[in-house]
Amino acid sequence: MRLLIASSIHSEAIAALQRHHDVVCAFNAPEEQLRALVPDREALIFRSGVQISARVMEAAPHLRLLLRAGSGTDNIDLDYVYRNHLTLIRIPGPGAKAVAELSFSLMLNLARNVIPANEQWQQGHWVKKEMTGYNLTGKVLGIVGAGNIGSRVGQLGAAWGMEVLGCVEIPTPAEAERLAALGIRLASFEEVLERSDFVSVHVPLMPSTRYLIDEAALARMKPGAFLVNLARGGVVDEAALARALDSGHLRGAGLDVHEREGEGHISPLAGRPNVILTPHIGANTYDSQREIGEIIVAAIDQFAANPDPTTWPPAVLGRVVYERELVRESIQ
Ligand code: MLT
Repeated sequence: MRLLIASSIHSEAIAALQRHHDVVCAFNAPEEQLRALVPDREALIFRSGVQISARVMEAAPHLRLLLRAGSGTDNIDLDYVYRNHLTLIRIPGPGAKAVAELSFSLMLNLARNVIPANEQWQQGHWVKKEMTGYNLTGKVLGIVGAGNIGSRVGQLGAAWGMEVLGCVEIPTPAEAERLAALGIRLASFEEVLERSDFVSVHVPLMPSTRYLIDEAALARMKPGAFLVNLARGGVVDEAALARALDSGHLRGAGLDVHEREGEGHISPLAGRPNVILTPHIGANTYDSQREIGEIIVAAIDQFAANPDPTTWPPAVLGRVVYERELVRESIQ
């Protein structure tokens, strides 16, 4: 197949694809550059950080397959995809493990002041008295969006000895049962905000979730709580969060995703000792990226032989999500 790899994926996957396919690589290219590269391409492989807009896809008359090497679909013009009957496949499983662990890492680091303590002691300042922190054990963990990733964070919280609450877009008895089996109690969005000592956000960015965590939601949060966002920038109103931190209402925040991402942007939350900011590295572990790479290679080989994913062997189909209709909130 003629492929365009538009994001950095695992090098072994690129090498494997190059052995059997015609591969062009252009990582995180802007729209005009993508348009120039796609006219003969049959498949696009990409992560976040690149916009798969209608203008890009219009320039690719041979395009049949979009392979999202991860979870989110907020960088794809989904209307165009479905109107033009393109096949969209996501690989959300491997990254979920890595994102869930980073969520825990941010909560632990915030609760124990690890980053400021490290900075001080590396400069010779023995700040033992000032650096008293909090346990996670025994606290309430709230998951906003207890789907694929959020459920994993909840599971980790339950194993850590936390009381875990989770809300979902469409609460049903079946969802309550699924979550209960993982140690998560289904709750309303409001209860999650009001009762949690740690709130971890995992909803996809959609019109209905833009600024879901706004001034009012932040005001509802328990005084002294911590907030972490590993979903998408735009789900949390960063200016409102800055005010909630500066007023002392929230104790700390960790964000891996930002309203403005990419080289050269400075977050409005920067410079606060109780804030941790990471550059959208949630899914960036060697383990998860290697696993995603293996699945990409298997999926491309399958698609080349048979473009109907519903008939693929379970060993491949079971590791991807084949999106046949407009992606809904519950799948992230
Ligand atoms: C994802 O949606 O899978 C993550 O944002 C990781 C990525 O694509 O870089």
